[in-house]
Amino acid sequence: MVAITLPRIIRIGGGALAELPEAMTQCGLSRPFVVTDGFLAQSGMVDRLLAVLGTAGIVATVFAETVPDPTVAVVEQALKALRLSGSDCVIGFGGGSPIDTAKVIAALALEPRPVPTLKAPVTTDAPGLPIIAVPTTAGTGSEATRFTIVTDEVTSEKMLCAGLAFLPTIAVVDFELTMAKPARLTADTGIDSLTHAIEAYVSRRANAFSDAMAISAMKLIAPNIRTACAEPGNRAAREAMMVGAHHAGIAFSNASVALVHGMSRPVGAFFHVPHGLSNAMLLPAITAFSAPAALPRYAACARAMGIASVEEGDQSAVARLLDELGALNRDLSVPTPQSHGISRERWFEVMPEMARQALASGSPSNNPRVPDAAEIERLYAEVFG
Ligand SMILES: NC(=O)c1ccc[n+]([C@@H]2O[C@H](COP(=O)([O-])OP(=O)(O)OC[C@H]3O[C@@H](n4cnc5c(N)ncnc54)[C@H](O)[C@@H]3O)[C@@H](O)[C@H]2O)c1
Ligand SMILES: [Fe+2]
Repeated sequence: MVAITLPRIIRIGGGALAELPEAMTQCGLSRPFVVTDGFLAQSGMVDRLLAVLGTAGIVATVFAETVPDPTVAVVEQALKALRLSGSDCVIGFGGGSPIDTAKVIAALALEPRPVPTLKAPVTTDAPGLPIIAVPTTAGTGSEATRFTIVTDEVTSEKMLCAGLAFLPTIAVVDFELTMAKPARLTADTGIDSLTHAIEAYVSRRANAFSDAMAISAMKLIAPNIRTACAEPGNRAAREAMMVGAHHAGIAFSNASVALVHGMSRPVGAFFHVPHGLSNAMLLPAITAFSAPAALPRYAACARAMGIASVEEGDQSAVARLLDELGALNRDLSVPTPQSHGISRERWFEVMPEMARQALASGSPSNNPRVPDAAEIERLYAEVFG
């Protein structure tokens, strides 16, 4: 049996932001609490959102203090402000971090409890306040997923939280909000979305629906990621990346991510490496490790990405995929953990705990080849640099 879940309303396209008030009216919502970060508030992008809401007479309360990789402390602060505001919905405006913050506080608004109680394998389905997600990065796909990720700063753990409580009611996917992303952010978030698509496709929980979305995402992202980085003003490339990231989010929300994400979260938690970058550091080595267990699936990824032909055998297509993932990291200047400045001593010291957290998240068990802790540690050692 396959269960598919999606936001109730998805508005996609250049300028879709202008349709947000109409979508809110369709859902009977009028008093939003906006969660965003300091950069977006200062850059004028939040003013764009408030102006759109203002045209419909909607007045919002703004919380602009969330941080990249949101922590329990910032979530609690936002939740307090939400409860004082009398809002009827929560808008996450920004990259994955503001959207994920919005998701948690919306879920806890009606029934507050400690954030760590939401950590997977717990599933939280009971709805809180309606969530509206407006991404400004083409990356996480969080606007369409039933996941949120919060860092427990006490245990240095990026907690994966899952359930329908975190699935937005409304998603507005407007690539024009991504036009000012710098090259590094475009690369990191783009590789995150490519990783979502590949992992959803090779996941043990893949299904016909998630496959279709994952393949669409790979077709959109792979030929456009370098262009979007090199030509920030290229609207066609930006649009392909945004729609690709969205399809990839739908894909993994309805299949799952796997070993790359399982191992990537502890790297983010311990070393504060941006999420997409830690995925990129791991993706080639983990693909090489996993491919023998699902050669036809990885070969299909290579074909969707346009780097292998339909006539070509699986073995050869997978060799091309491994080459391409290496080339992508070189072209997009992805460092190794070592060249990123992480101390070798500290990396090897925390490796057992990173492996423990990776396994505990459940993601590695969706991988075509399921590793044990020792194999995960070997992979961490291999990618160090
Ligand atoms: N919920 C999910 O399904 C899911 C999936 C993948 C990742 N995540 C999580 O999402 C977070 C990462 O999100 P992200 O990669 O989108 O980055 P982010 O939200 O952490 O933002 C990174 C930086 O980019 C800036 N930024 C955002 N939009 C911009 C724009 N249009 N122009 C210029 N700068 C901009 C932000 O201000 C911030 O400084 C991580 O915590 C990750 O674990 C969640
Ligand atoms: Fe991700």
